[in-house]
Amino acid sequence: MDIIQSEIDAKSDEFRRNLDHWSREIERLRQALARTAGGGPAESRERQKSLGKLSVRERIEHLLDPETPFLELSPLAAFEMYDEEAPAGGIVTGIGMVSGREAMIIANDPSVKGGTYFPVTLKKHLRAQEIARENRLPCVYLVDSGGLYLPLQDGSFPDREGFGRIFFNQSRMSAEGIPQIAVVLGMCTAGGAYIPAMSDEVVIVRGQGTIFIGGPPLVKAATGIDVDAEELGGADVHCRVSGVSDHLAEDERHALHVARNIVENIGMPKKTDLPLARPENPAYDPAEIPGILPSDPRKPFEIKEIIARITDGSRFHEFKALYGRTLVTGFARISGYPVGILANNGVLYPESALKGAHFVSMCSIRKFPIVFLQNITGFIIGKQYEAGGIAKDGAKMVHAVANAQVPKFTVIVGGSHGAGNYGMCGRAYDPRLLFTWPSARTCVMGADQAADVLTSVKVNQMKRLGKAMTAAELEGFRKPILEKYAREASPYYSTARLWDDGILAPADTRSALALGISMSLNAPVPDHRMGVIRM
Ligand code: COA
Repeated sequence: MDIIQSEIDAKSDEFRRNLDHWSREIERLRQALARTAGGGPAESRERQKSLGKLSVRERIEHLLDPETPFLELSPLAAFEMYDEEAPAGGIVTGIGMVSGREAMIIANDPSVKGGTYFPVTLKKHLRAQEIARENRLPCVYLVDSGGLYLPLQDGSFPDREGFGRIFFNQSRMSAEGIPQIAVVLGMCTAGGAYIPAMSDEVVIVRGQGTIFIGGPPLVKAATGIDVDAEELGGADVHCRVSGVSDHLAEDERHALHVARNIVENIGMPKKTDLPLARPENPAYDPAEIPGILPSDPRKPFEIKEIIARITDGSRFHEFKALYGRTLVTGFARISGYPVGILANNGVLYPESALKGAHFVSMCSIRKFPIVFLQNITGFIIGKQYEAGGIAKDGAKMVHAVANAQVPKFTVIVGGSHGAGNYGMCGRAYDPRLLFTWPSARTCVMGADQAADVLTSVKVNQMKRLGKAMTAAELEGFRKPILEKYAREASPYYSTARLWDDGILAPADTRSALALGISMSLNAPVPDHRMGVIRM
């Protein structure tokens, strides 16, 4: 494969300006990550420690194979939500290696409101289960949770994606042969009791873990009988009498060791038939990416310069280089894995959409993972294009992406707007993982365009009533729309609400994609099938 020839001048003023701007943004990201990784308030963390409990991150560290990476998901969930009371959403999820096998870890953080579930906590738990199911990853639940965060029960109890969905997913995964393992490290009350009860195999810590449908206060209220937590649902009761747990651990470290032993005995999946190669670093330094991304988000940039800093050896076998040039397509390798790449170099024209659909079908038939690099305002608009059938050409690309069952990975590196978000495998198109960069902006259209549309609707309404708006009134009408769009397009706003699986610093993208692709190879890829395509 040919090496991409970069035309970037790392000594230019523009490169320096961009680098300064994005370095500050990347530092802001690192600080936000460090802050949320701390967990709940200091008093709460101290209290856990004084009870002899490990922090949620220490627990994960003890569970994972030493010196292996942990791909944490949505570490900024609930960012700037709930009065900052749920750092990381109160739950840590991610993919890591346990006894030589890739597993999904779902761990409550008891320092955040007793590990209880805010609506975003639940969304994060369910998203982790969804990833586990799609990629056939065994799930290890490190349970230490008081169940629902009661003041917000309407956001997490009753709906299809409510708390009950956790147990539905456990049952379905277990039936599909995806092992479900629970380590009970604290209180499992009410709904929380079902996480271990629905698991294939359970470990519980003596004197610390408890499982009960109704806690001591409820038993007292209902029956008048005083009972302590250990006597009601402690490790001895469940390992010796009820059979709700299978293994008794003396302390947390012991419990995590037993969990590792359990994973050791669940067998190994058949991995891939893909032609793998020895991983190779890109010829161009990924650390240069922030110098390439314009600090002004409206300015276009050459996406091949980004591809050159993500792929092995900066090699890229471009497909249809001369046709539909606003969409770059081609084959490359990431850490030795073969991938197809679709990347935007401008608005999607009919030819770009057709090229995209063609390329996605090719990857699907070859069963190659696909990486989408999104920087897209949308499909081209205008009389000429509507008459030419841009709607049906765009639909062909959207259809191909929706039906591509190969592992898909999306990185939003710039704008993500309109139907461009769909064609380029936005969240609704089931990418196995979706990441953003600090430069990402996700919203239905740009702030100016949204303000223009709404202003023109308003002006027409006023005209019908025989009224007009002054320039100052128009300005006053537009301003809040612009502010709202700017706030909501931010990657922090997206990631807080789990519209993605996390914000990445550009230089970390290669390794996150490589871990993601490796994870995806645990699941077989079905044969390609398309539906009816409008010709
Ligand atoms: N909903 C909302 N907040 C809750 C909560 C719940 N279900 N359970 C605990 N909290 C909050 C507490 O109010 C406290 O908040 P604060 O620090 O702002 O005061 C914080 O979580 C820690 O609770 P605390 O009881 O001090 O900590 P703990 O480590 O001793 O115990 C629990 C944690 C979860 C075991 C205990 O609080 C508990 O039993 N909660 C009720 C569990 C329950 O019945 N859930 C049913 C839900 S379906």
